[in-house]
Amino acid sequence: MSREAFVEQVAIITGASSGIGRATALALAREGARVVLAARRRPALDAVAREVEAMGGQALVVPTDVTDRQQVTHLITRTLDTWGQVDILIANAGVYIRKPVRELQVEDVEKSMAVNFYGALYPVLAVLPHMLQRARGHIVLVTSMDAKKGIPPDAPYVAAKFALAGFGDVLRQELHGSGVGVTVVFPGRVDTPLIANLKVPWISAKIPPETVARAILRGIRRRQPEVIVPWQARLLIYAHTFSPRFADWAVRFFHLEGWEVAPGEGS
Ligand SMILES: NC(=O)c1ccc[n+]([C@@H]2O[C@H](COP(=O)([O-])OP(=O)(O)OC[C@H]3O[C@@H](n4cnc5c(N)ncnc54)[C@H](OP(=O)(O)O)[C@@H]3O)[C@@H](O)[C@H]2O)c1
Repeated sequence: MSREAFVEQVAIITGASSGIGRATALALAREGARVVLAARRRPALDAVAREVEAMGGQALVVPTDVTDRQQVTHLITRTLDTWGQVDILIANAGVYIRKPVRELQVEDVEKSMAVNFYGALYPVLAVLPHMLQRARGHIVLVTSMDAKKGIPPDAPYVAAKFALAGFGDVLRQELHGSGVGVTVVFPGRVDTPLIANLKVPWISAKIPPETVARAILRGIRRRQPEVIVPWQARLLIYAHTFSPRFADWAVRFFHLEGWEVAPGEGS
């Protein structure tokens, strides 16, 4: 896909009110795409839409709770009614739920699955018939490095992100040759409100959401199966492949779980 390929494309971005979703929406708009901004907070979405319009782009705001199937269906139909097509879906909305397994309630995992897994599954299934009928489109699933190597005490988050990564792995293979591409994105620590109260060690320093957005656009252009960002995060994957015991030790040694601090003090 060339740089010009985003011009006039219609891209739906969930979780567009903040962080990676906002940065990706702005990056796509800058490349000429028409963006559909979905998340729960309308004022924050309106602010992103104003930024898009200020750069001469087009944005459609559709407040959506991705855990609600009807709202997700409405998001897709509203987009099709407005612009007649969906070329790109970025399933990005997410919540970070961490709690030691010994203190865990089933509800903690259900809540994480509702947003991080089903909140991505619903829009994928809702948009897929349209993309298959046109034999074109691209689906991006934003998971996490936590879906490559679990970090304590993130079990609720890790479980949902592994589930999403597994779904995406099969989806990509089943859609091979259909004209619809799939990219699964595995960011390391990113400087967004999601982990504003988490101080992280130097080895997993937070990267700007714009870096992830650029990697996502590159992933779509090149039809990459997976995007791992930053590249250093791969070291943990290699370590785990070599020896899970060694990787567990590395997680403990480098304090990859980070330290919980007051909100805003984690940057
Ligand atoms: N930050 C990191 O270190 C990191 C690392 C790896 C992966 N990720 C993943 O990257 C994605 C984006 O996270 P971020 O870091 O950009 O965090 P963020 O700034 O907190 O953004 C999260 C977004 O998800 C939306 N969202 C949450 N629950 C929702 C719901 N029920 N329905 C619709 N939208 C919902 C939020 O919007 P509303 O509140 O307006 O609904 C917000 O726009 C997530 O999937 C996250 O797991 C983040």
